[in-house]
Amino acid sequence: MVHWTDEERQAISSTWAEINVEEVGYQALARVLVVYPWTQRYFSTFGNVSNATAIAGNSKVRAHGKRVLDALGDAITHMDNVKATYTKLSQLHSEKLHVDPENFRLLGETLIISLAAQFGAAFTPDIQAAWQKLLAVVTAALSKQYY
Ligand code: HEM
Repeated sequence: MVHWTDEERQAISSTWAEINVEEVGYQALARVLVVYPWTQRYFSTFGNVSNATAIAGNSKVRAHGKRVLDALGDAITHMDNVKATYTKLSQLHSEKLHVDPENFRLLGETLIISLAAQFGAAFTPDIQAAWQKLLAVVTAALSKQYY
């Protein structure tokens, strides 16, 4: 089982309490689509996601960013049991959506960039470390049903 220190729990919950999940979810998803353009092909039902301007005006990207961050909120609520929390979501991404699990790591990285952009210097190395750990746990849990 993953061990969380009180400082890590505090770092994650205090950041989480201050963010607008819709906005940060949108920012992270938009960055994935622009920086790693091969991810665009998974979202063929979303209309035009081929460039930053199109993505900025795409309400489906915004809605989906919020859905992804709400799911991250479930992981934060169940930090000691992320694998079980994500069993169905992992099955969905594997068996139905056929998302290459490497992309989970990339979305985690763009989420970190989005948090850093929002918080600036207040996103300290210790706070970043706690988030990197959470996103590593999330990525592992989402990848669990891929066998
Ligand atoms: C759908 C969460 C990463 C592609 C979903 C849904 C959630 C979710 C909650 C909706 C599930 C439902 O309809 O019941 C997450 C989380 C991620 C993640 C927490 C990582 C932290 C990714 C990545 C990709 C991806 C990296 C592709 C690059 C999709 C697609 C759908 C989906 C294509 C279906 C969208 C639709 O047609 O509405 N994801 N996801 N996901 N996800 Fe993810």
